[in-house]
Amino acid sequence: MVSEKVKTGKSGKYYSGHISTYSDRYMEKEIPKYEMPARGMPANAAYQLVHDETNLDGNPSLNLASFVTTWMEPEADQLMMESLNKNFIDHDEYPQTEVIHQRVVNMLGRLFNAPKQKKFIGTGTIGSSEAIMLGLLAHKFSWRNRRKKEGKKYDRPNMVMGADVHTVWDKFARYFDVEPKIIPMEPGRYTIGPKEVEKYIDENTICVGAILGTTFTGQADDIEGINKLLLKIKKRRGWDIPIHVDGASGGFVAPFVHKKLKWDFRLEQVKTINVSGHKYGLVYPGLGWLIFRDKSALPDDIVFKVNYLGGEMPTYTLNFSRGSATVLAQYYNMIRLGKEGYTRIMKNSMSNAQHLAKQIKKTGKFEMLSVAQVIPVVTFQLKGSPGFTVYALSKKLREKGWIVPAYTLPKDADKIAILRVVVKENFSRDMADLFFEDLIKAYDSLKKEKPEKKKQVKRKAEKRIC
Ligand SMILES: Cc1ncc(COP(=O)(O)O)c(C=O)c1O
Repeated sequence: MVSEKVKTGKSGKYYSGHISTYSDRYMEKEIPKYEMPARGMPANAAYQLVHDETNLDGNPSLNLASFVTTWMEPEADQLMMESLNKNFIDHDEYPQTEVIHQRVVNMLGRLFNAPKQKKFIGTGTIGSSEAIMLGLLAHKFSWRNRRKKEGKKYDRPNMVMGADVHTVWDKFARYFDVEPKIIPMEPGRYTIGPKEVEKYIDENTICVGAILGTTFTGQADDIEGINKLLLKIKKRRGWDIPIHVDGASGGFVAPFVHKKLKWDFRLEQVKTINVSGHKYGLVYPGLGWLIFRDKSALPDDIVFKVNYLGGEMPTYTLNFSRGSATVLAQYYNMIRLGKEGYTRIMKNSMSNAQHLAKQIKKTGKFEMLSVAQVIPVVTFQLKGSPGFTVYALSKKLREKGWIVPAYTLPKDADKIAILRVVVKENFSRDMADLFFEDLIKAYDSLKKEKPEKKKQVKRKAEKRIC
């Protein structure tokens, strides 16, 4: 038993002897959960309380579900801490942060092979979701302006995309009243190409969405093929349909490991590209980028000019206030790593993912869907009927701390349930081997569990007979 005698000294009440770390330090009572408490508590107690609760979260290093960065260098952490108190939108107050933001836009414009221009056009966003919505809004306005000018109807805009798109595309369609024309998937085809797109486009199509690294399997739509089709249609029918490339994950991978793959502004109809700085841009959440091919792709309708922060400032983000830290961290990564550093990291992640995929395939227990061909993502389903589901396997892996999502593929391929492993910079070869061992242990353990359960059921049945 610990002694907790209260003595009174010159400085008032204090405890003598040992006390347990938390008792009597604001941790012995129920904590405020639903109503703001009338009185506060000391900073260290509040810190400890929140800190301890978040221990119940998963371990970010073992989170193979998320595409989002879970590790940065200490210098980047420091830089981010130093700029936590700067509101990014206050360009007049923090002009250098805005200069740095523009530098990143210019670097990305060049990286994505936008036509040569004095100042590349784009903006940082809170993530790819905001960037996609903005890009699609730009296409909606451009289409409407064109139709108005031609004296044609502009009340039924649509957009064409595969069922392999991220939810944000569906969100855009609903929030901004654009008819979504969704190309279904089928077992064995989890992306789209020109053959599928051709059947869906018409004069009211504001844009075609093409994905470089889908959320479901990490594969890529045939962007070059879709571009070729749209050029043919432009020539034949006069419909100038742009492509928005969702490079949320692939945008920071392809320029370094698939240099020959044409997916960016080298393709004429690609007018806007989004990329997540917080995915393979290697920055903590939330940072995305939207890059325009050139000024002609940015309609005036989406640009606002505000003067209430001092100076006149153009803005075309959906959000207003946001942190500066991630933007500065993106610039840090770009100058710290350079193209050579990004190439090394991306190649390493691809090779670790491919190594893992090879191991998984070799067991003969799984059917591989993707083996890190475009981005470092491995997806696989169970082979045959081992007597348990991918959901059970995912749950079993969680017992060891690994977070691996199990889910079904999009509509029309939704009978297929898979597991996905997203390999990030901090998933070393050693981690890949440890994960593989645990995957097989989990598989074998589930396989063994089944007869056990069967026996129990049998025993119960026997009892009843007696
Ligand atoms: C292909 C794709 N597009 C868009 C998004 C949304 O990106 P964000 O989380 O950066 O908003 C994701 C997220 O995983 C994605 O994989």
